[in-house]
Formats: sequence, structure tokens, C-alpha cells
Amino acid sequence: MIKIAPSMLAGDFSQMGEQAAMIEKAGADWLHLDVMDGHFVPNITFGAPIIKSIRGKSSLVFDVHLMISEPLRYIPDFVKAGADVITFHIESDSPVDETIDLIRSSGCKAALSVKPGTPVESVFPYLDKLDMVLIMTVEPGFGGQSFMEDMMPKVTAVKNEIERRGLKDIDIEVDGGINKDTISVAAKAGANAFVSGSALFGSDDIKKTIADFKRSATI
Ligand code: DX5
Ligand code: ZN
Repeated sequence: MIKIAPSMLAGDFSQMGEQAAMIEKAGADWLHLDVMDGHFVPNITFGAPIIKSIRGKSSLVFDVHLMISEPLRYIPDFVKAGADVITFHIESDSPVDETIDLIRSSGCKAALSVKPGTPVESVFPYLDKLDMVLIMTVEPGFGGQSFMEDMMPKVTAVKNEIERRGLKDIDIEVDGGINKDTISVAAKAGANAFVSGSALFGSDDIKKTIADFKRSATI
């Protein structure tokens, strides 16, 4: 149930394959891959070809977070690159239903994300066909920012709505500023999947940190 998803954004881009293998051995569940287009967010990272090249080095679940303006246009590329879970933003320019349908019909899991300024209720109309909701706990674009605790009511609201509607197997992921303290705050609010970049890659012993995170997230 608890998933720890290290964000490659905080890793060394010259050794992505090695680092993906390293975090897998260290006990990570997912590999979080932040795709930014310099348009939806003011930063550029990497795209499908890079993800494809890491795919051969890791059997982790590839959790691809698209911070791009036109996700629909690029879904086939990310599917072919080996994505398992594809998250796009409700604030993007793509039609939401069509984008979810394409992700799912391609055999991937579909997730919608909300930026800090977007009410979580905006994803409620799509919940029935989502595999995950990603609540941003920082403004998307950069790693190393501080966790926004005031996003926790959104986590609890989506958890309550999932339960109220009797939906099963929908993960609730948080992304931004997750460390050994904030992870338990997010877990108590209802999150079960935790992205961590700088706190995880910046720790001396990644294996121990992942184990600590799992313990802190167990409520
Ligand atoms: C931010 C990204 C995050 C980021 C998290 O836009 O979506 O995944 O890498 O990094 P930390 O854990 O450093 O906040
Ligand atoms: Zn992310």
C-alpha cells in the first residue's frame, strides 16, 4: 500500500540508469520521473527518449509526472518509452477525458494532478476512471522546495470522496518537500504514495532513509 517514489530530478542526470538500479536495490517501490517542457512550468528536464534509455536498467514501476502543456499529444511516446503510471495536470491544455482514456487504453495507469492553487474537487468528475490522484505539495517546476502543509485538507478530501463512492485501488500521491517529518503528516492526511527528491537523494544512506520513510508513513 505504501509506495516510496524517489524523484530522479534530484539524482545525477549523467548516471540515471545506475541510480535507478541503486534505488531499486535500496527498497524504492516506484521511480518518479519529472517531465517538464519549459512552458507548463518554468523549467525543462527530459522527455521520452531518456525514460526509454533508463527502462532497461530498472524493473521499478515508472511513475511519469508530465508537467507539460499538451500531454495528450505525447502520451504514445511515453507509453512506448515504458511508463507504467502516467500523471498529467488538470491545468494542462489537453482534454481531460480523452487523455485519461488514451492512457488507459494504452495499458498504463492514469493519474491526474492538481497544482497548489487548484481545488481538489476539480478531479472528482474523473475519479471513477483514475488510478491515482497526485496532490502537489509545492508549486511544480523545481525540487528542493518546502512542503506546503496547507495542502493536507485536499488529501483528506479526495480520500473521503474515494471512500464515499466506494472506489477501490486509487492511490493518493503527494509530491514536493517530502522528508522524514512531512511524510507522516501526509500519511496521516490520507496519502499512500510519496515522491521524494532532495531529502532522499541528499541522505547519506538511501536504503536506511527509504526504510525510515516507510516506517514514518505507517500510521
Ligand atoms: C517538482 C517535482 C517533484 C520534485 C520533488 O515539480 O514534481 O517531483 O522533484 O522534489 P523534492 O522532494 O526535492 O521537493
Ligand atoms: Zn513530480
